[in-house]
Amino acid sequence: MTDDPLRVLAADLLDDADRTIEATLRPRSLDEYVGQREVKANLAVLLEAARGRGEAADHILLYGPPGLGKTTLATIVARELGVNIRYTSGPAVERPGDLAAILTALDERDVLFIDEIHRLGKAVEEILYPAMEDYALDVMIGKGPSARSLRLSLKPFTVVGATTRAGRLSSPLRDRFGATFRLDFYALDELTAIVLRSARILDVAIDEDAARAIARRGRGTPRVVNRLLKRVRDHAQVHGSGRIDEAAVELAMASLEIDEAGLDGTDRRLLAAIVQKFASGPVGVAALAAVLAEEVETIEDVYEPYLLRLGFLDRTPQGRIATEAARSHLARLGYEVPPPRRGEAETPSLWDGASGPTAV
Ligand SMILES: Nc1ncnc2c1ncn2[C@@H]1O[C@H](COP(=O)(O)OP(=O)(O)OP(=O)(O)O)[C@@H](O)[C@H]1O
Ligand SMILES: [Mg+2]
Repeated sequence: MTDDPLRVLAADLLDDADRTIEATLRPRSLDEYVGQREVKANLAVLLEAARGRGEAADHILLYGPPGLGKTTLATIVARELGVNIRYTSGPAVERPGDLAAILTALDERDVLFIDEIHRLGKAVEEILYPAMEDYALDVMIGKGPSARSLRLSLKPFTVVGATTRAGRLSSPLRDRFGATFRLDFYALDELTAIVLRSARILDVAIDEDAARAIARRGRGTPRVVNRLLKRVRDHAQVHGSGRIDEAAVELAMASLEIDEAGLDGTDRRLLAAIVQKFASGPVGVAALAAVLAEEVETIEDVYEPYLLRLGFLDRTPQGRIATEAARSHLARLGYEVPPPRRGEAETPSLWDGASGPTAV
């Protein structure tokens, strides 16, 4: 899918080539991990303490939009603890027995990484509760009236859970994490540092202004800047000298149809739909999803977080609203921008006929 220029910014989309590149670019220690200072500082203490006691670290929950470095952090946790990591994900663990098999195969203090942990089934989750709390596995033996449950003990281990939204986790599961960290979008300087670091690893010649120009379009997301870097490199190689300067970045971005705000075609389609089809909102996300032929979840997890962060979108109890900033961004790009429906309700007249000013 990444060959589709319109999707180059989607932080959740990955093909095999992306995966290979991601593995090479992945920071291997907390020191190499750029940004998220507070998370790193707290995590460093937690890991140091566990190491000092020679115990399994507390269970850790990481949450935040896609591509911000949750999987990377999980890998670093295991590495810093000097233990093995086993990767799985909510949708991959179908039956309680699958999880039981994974748990019994873990070694002392190992890390079990569960991606998309909010998608674990209920029955599977119930296996996880005693496992996380008491390192215990409850198995049922027999059937009917003679059935009884047997408690097996597991070796101490650490769950690192990742989710795009902590609110989706059931509260008993959430309560079993000793530490919860929220990853936030990266600042421009941090993204620039990530571009420069990746360029060094990929052996790409780039100057600092060009790195910054890529970072500006990177939606605050390391995965996106890394992907943009690769696309710009291709352009520079085919159309230029191979060295990446700011002009090369601008050219590549123009051909990828990524605008100065870092929005791609899908983002603009989303905003334009709200502005043109729903009079700038409010519109429910389901209606929006139908118009765009996208999944509600994709809109909520992939597109909205960055538009919200840019201040282009507002979430209200009545639905999504395209803000004035979004409207003028679209207008600048030549979109037709009809007046907002809410304008009438929002600017009530101060004068109510002859009776004078009304209370607002
Ligand atoms: N702090 C960072 N410093 C440098 N590079 C980073 C950092 N965080 C992430 N990256 C890069 O971004 C890529 C994506 O990170 P990662 O796969 O960990 O994201 P994720 O949060 O797990 O995403 P998803 O929610 O889609 O699973 C990695 O290949 C890594 O190279
Ligand atoms: Mg991940």
